[in-house]
Amino acid sequence: MSLPQAVKIVEVGPRDGLQNESAEVSAAIKIALVERLAAAGLAAVEAGAFVSVNKVPQMAGSREVFQGLKRRPGTAYPALVPNMKGFEAAVEAGVTEIAVFVSASEGFSQHNIACSRAESLERLRDVAEAAASRNILMRGYVSCIAGCPYDGAIAPDDVAAMAEALVAMGCYEISLGDTIGVGTAGQIRKLIEHISTHIPREKLAMHFHDTYGQGVANVLASLEEGISVFDSSVAGLGGCPFAPGASGNVATEDIVYLLQGLGIKTGVDLMAVAKTGDWISGYLGRANAARAGTALLAAKKNGGTHGG
Ligand code: HMG
Ligand code: MG
Repeated sequence: MSLPQAVKIVEVGPRDGLQNESAEVSAAIKIALVERLAAAGLAAVEAGAFVSVNKVPQMAGSREVFQGLKRRPGTAYPALVPNMKGFEAAVEAGVTEIAVFVSASEGFSQHNIACSRAESLERLRDVAEAAASRNILMRGYVSCIAGCPYDGAIAPDDVAAMAEALVAMGCYEISLGDTIGVGTAGQIRKLIEHISTHIPREKLAMHFHDTYGQGVANVLASLEEGISVFDSSVAGLGGCPFAPGASGNVATEDIVYLLQGLGIKTGVDLMAVAKTGDWISGYLGRANAARAGTALLAAKKNGGTHGG
């Protein structure tokens, strides 16, 4: 399969990234982060989550973020929503696109959202109806596609069943999440081949965490399988509080560098993302996990151009 000419990147750092950081981040900093990422050309920036503050305290303040954000025309700012309570709060805050989430595994579903897979789909029916009636776009996540921290190996049919249920509910795109970053390229290829017998590739996005350092390789494998939408996180921020040991998403800087090298359009200003990654890492007092971002900034500082 030939590679796509253009790729859309969904930046999830302000949500998937910050939800797992221990430092407290004010709404003003979150807003600055989202605005810088949007200004760098990212077509979608997931800007917050309307979930239980007891379970994910880092996402408190999402209302202030959405209300304070200066939106760029043409940029999408989805918010993560688990139920009607979250949906209503999101709409009140001015959200126009939501992301709903379910798990391919039973164990992660229970730990993440305190219900079974079947119950999670049932819970989302009202959300889907309410979103459709208000013309709110809905994206869907399926977690633990390549393995679960509680249940171990996951059958591709379980991933397909949850993804199909989300499509039937009205999700315009399904993001397949390797929540704990265990998948390898061959496994991901087979999984995409399997899922695409149920759902067209144009409706699929891939969401890799980089726990085992496989993120960039898995993006390349997915590109070769005809996928053209990827989620990533500036500076490789984050992880999931309910997936012990999982590290951040594959870094936006690293995949933009890969895509540029392949001659694939992203519309993203790599240096602007690299500077944003450096800024937010410094603010959080953590190492910048974006290899390409760190290398580009070091090359710039040394006054040289990089060889590649
Ligand atoms: P529950 O305990 O079953 O819900 O939680 P409940 O209805 O019994 O409510 C319990 C309390 O939460 C109540 O408050 C509710 O009002 C409140 P109390 O009366 O005890 O004071 N509550 C809420 N508060 C704010 N916003 C809401 C909301 N709903 C209930 N929307 C629930 C169910 C789903 C709410 C909870 O388990 C939860 O919020 N979990 C957090 C899930 C989460 O954010 N996980 C991380 C994101 S998923 C992820 O990272 C994976 C992804 O990146 C893809 C991948 O990598 O695979 C997307
Ligand atoms: Mg994630």
